[in-house]
Amino acid sequence: MKIVGCRIRGREGLYNVSYENGVFTSITELEPGSEEKQMKTGDVYDAKGRLLMPPFVEPHIHLDCVLTAGIPHYNMSGTLFEGISTWQEYKTTQPLVVSEIKERAKEALRLLAEYGVQFVRTHVDVTETSFKGVEALEELKEEMKDIMEIQTIAFPQNGILSVRDGKANMERAMSMGMDCVGAIPHYEFTREYGIESLKYIFELAEKYDKMIDVHCDEMDDEQSRFLETLATLAWERGYGKRTVAAHTCAMGSYNDSYCTKLFRLLQESGININACPCANVHLQGRIDKYPKRRGVTRIKELSDAGINIALGQDSIADPWYPIGVGNLLRVLEMGLHVGHMMGYEDLQHCLDLISTNGAKNLCIEDHYGIEVGKKANFIILDGKDDYEILRFQSPVVLSVHNGMTIAEKEPAVASVKF
Ligand code: FE2
Repeated sequence: MKIVGCRIRGREGLYNVSYENGVFTSITELEPGSEEKQMKTGDVYDAKGRLLMPPFVEPHIHLDCVLTAGIPHYNMSGTLFEGISTWQEYKTTQPLVVSEIKERAKEALRLLAEYGVQFVRTHVDVTETSFKGVEALEELKEEMKDIMEIQTIAFPQNGILSVRDGKANMERAMSMGMDCVGAIPHYEFTREYGIESLKYIFELAEKYDKMIDVHCDEMDDEQSRFLETLATLAWERGYGKRTVAAHTCAMGSYNDSYCTKLFRLLQESGININACPCANVHLQGRIDKYPKRRGVTRIKELSDAGINIALGQDSIADPWYPIGVGNLLRVLEMGLHVGHMMGYEDLQHCLDLISTNGAKNLCIEDHYGIEVGKKANFIILDGKDDYEILRFQSPVVLSVHNGMTIAEKEPAVASVKF
C-alpha cells in the first residue's frame, strides 16, 4: 500500500510512504512539482498534501465508566466527589455484566478511532469487587490487539488503605494481567495512608514488572503534595520513565517557591505527567467563590521545563464529565486555552501534547513514529500543520494501525451562499 503526496509532521516537503505486512517499507521525498504526474491507481491513497503523522495517544481514560452519564442520575454539583459517589451508586444499583461493559467500552473505542486514537491507556476500578470491569477490559484488550493497543491500570477508585481488602484488590487485579499499578493518595483517609499507598504500589509494580500511573493530587488543596513522594520514590528506584502522575491539579494552587523546588525533583526523577484539562476545568474550582481557580496543572511551565506532559480526556459521558466524543483535538484546545499556550511558538508543535508525549507516557516509543522498519501506525489529517489542524479541528481522514485501515472519513464540504 502506498500513500502519495503527503506532508509528514516534522519534515519539509512532500512524500510518498509505502508499507507492507504492517511495516513501513519506504519514505521518499518528492521532487517539487512531481506529485501531479504520479500514478494514483491501485493500492494507492492520494493524500493531496495533507499531514501524515503518528497516531494520537489517549493516555488517560476510564473505559469501564464511559457512556454511563445519567445512570442512576446526573452529577448535579459537577464536583469530583459527587462523581465518585454517583459512580458508587452505579456500581451498587446496576447489574454489572461483562458483555455490557465491553460493549460500552468498545463504543468509546470506535469514537476514539474515528478521531485518530490508536493507543489507549485505561483505568479500571478495582474497588468494584465483582471485578467484572477488570474481566471486561482484559478481554477487550486481547480481542482488540490487532486494531488498537490498550493498556490497563489497576485503579483503586476508593483507595487502597481506606477500603477493606484494598491491597488484596490490587494484588488480584495485577494477577489478572493488568499493565499498570494505580493509586489515589489524595483520596485516602489520611496523609499517612496516602504515603503508604504509594510505597505499596512501587513494591507491587516491581513484583509484577509493570508500569505505574497514579491519580495524584486531583484537588484544589495546595497542601495536597503526594506528587513529591511519587517522584521521590520513582527517583530512588529508577522508575521515572515508567511512572505517570495524572491530573496533579493541586499544582495549579501551589506557591511558586515550592513549585520551583518541585520541578527540580520532577526533572531528576524523569517521571511523566498527564493532564485532563476538559475534565478538570469542569470538576475543580467548584468550592471556590470568586476568583475561581482553573484547577488544571501547570501545563506550560512543565512543558517549558522539559518535563514530559501529555493530555487525556479522562471521561466520555460519565458521572464526572457529561459530554465528550473521543476527540483529543478538543481536549488539546482546552489545554492550550487554560494553560496560556496560544503563543505562536506553542502552536507550532501543539500536537505533541496528544501524540508523541502520550507515547512517552505509555512507553511505546519502540513501535511509534514514522520510520522505515517501524510498524505502519499513522493517521492523515485534513490539514497541513499543527496550527491549521488545531484551528480548524481538522478531521482524521485515514487511520492505519499495523498496516490495516481502521477508520476513514470524508471531510464535510460546506456550501456558503455568499
Ligand atoms: Fe481519571
